[in-house]
Amino acid sequence: MQQLVWELPEQLCNALCRCRDVVVSGEVPLSIAVAGMGGSAIGGDIIGGLLAERCPVPFRVVRDYRLPAFVQADTLFFAVSYSGNTEETLAAYDQATRRGCRVVVVTSGGKLGGLAERRGQPLFQVPAGLPPRAALGYLLVPLAAVLEQVGVVDGLTSQIERAAGLLRRCRIKWQRQAKRIAKSLFERLPIVYSTSRLLDPVADRWRCQLNENAKVMCHTAVFPEHNHNEIVGMGSPESLRRSVLLILYDRFTHPRTARRVAQTLEIARGTFERAHRLKTEGRVPFERVLSLCMLGDMVSIELARFRRVDPLPVARIDSLKERMRGKR
Ligand code: PA5
Repeated sequence: MQQLVWELPEQLCNALCRCRDVVVSGEVPLSIAVAGMGGSAIGGDIIGGLLAERCPVPFRVVRDYRLPAFVQADTLFFAVSYSGNTEETLAAYDQATRRGCRVVVVTSGGKLGGLAERRGQPLFQVPAGLPPRAALGYLLVPLAAVLEQVGVVDGLTSQIERAAGLLRRCRIKWQRQAKRIAKSLFERLPIVYSTSRLLDPVADRWRCQLNENAKVMCHTAVFPEHNHNEIVGMGSPESLRRSVLLILYDRFTHPRTARRVAQTLEIARGTFERAHRLKTEGRVPFERVLSLCMLGDMVSIELARFRRVDPLPVARIDSLKERMRGKR
């Protein structure tokens, strides 16, 4: 897993090359939906965060069996499932196909891959044999490429190329930083706060990677919404005594939001054992998002090491899936 995290920039470049083989054409859609779960959904979230202030049409990630009513024939619909066998994604995909959406599939195979092939739907085949969460590049890049191809936004793939360069240049430095952060998280509850819509999916990525790689609980919340509810919960510090804050900042975090975070930390002084302020690196949005994603991935691996757990297996996810198939 450590190797897979380290190779994210190479995976991004490889994914960009593979995308040249599939071309999706057609009009600019009236809405965009991405169906996926867990490690397969986060790519959609990242694109959603990047497009929050840029996308001319509604963009929604669907993590459920049923689709929202707006998903119709004029919707560009992505079904993303690494295994191709995730039941929620398959159900949403079936519904989208029946509604006549323009469907694009991203998968390593499974039922979803077979169906897309039979139906002649555009299919981005990702390499098999990886844990879904370690295939972030392969699952994310096709979405960006298609959105460019159909004219929703431009410049996303060139941003990804730039991001790959930044990750390569910075990964040794981040590895050292990740060790220090992970040490401070040992036997503590990590609480990750995002301070802009660009970073909300990054906070989620941190949580999921800490859950699955380090096998720990993690809490996330977003600013400025935090100031309208969670700030009150912070007033009961007995539940937070063994917790560490990780606050994700971006150079474009709204100045009033930055002030809110500073004021909140003053009000909550002494509540948390420690607070890390982590800032995105790079200029373009993809660089900034992926810089903190990669740092978070590394922290989860380092914390797994401190906890002496294997980051790779996710036995509880597997056993739950077995139970849902009715085999136990
Ligand atoms: O990390 C994981 O293994 C999970 O979060 C999976 O991604 C999730 O269960 C969905 O499976 P898939 O990615 O195969 O659609």
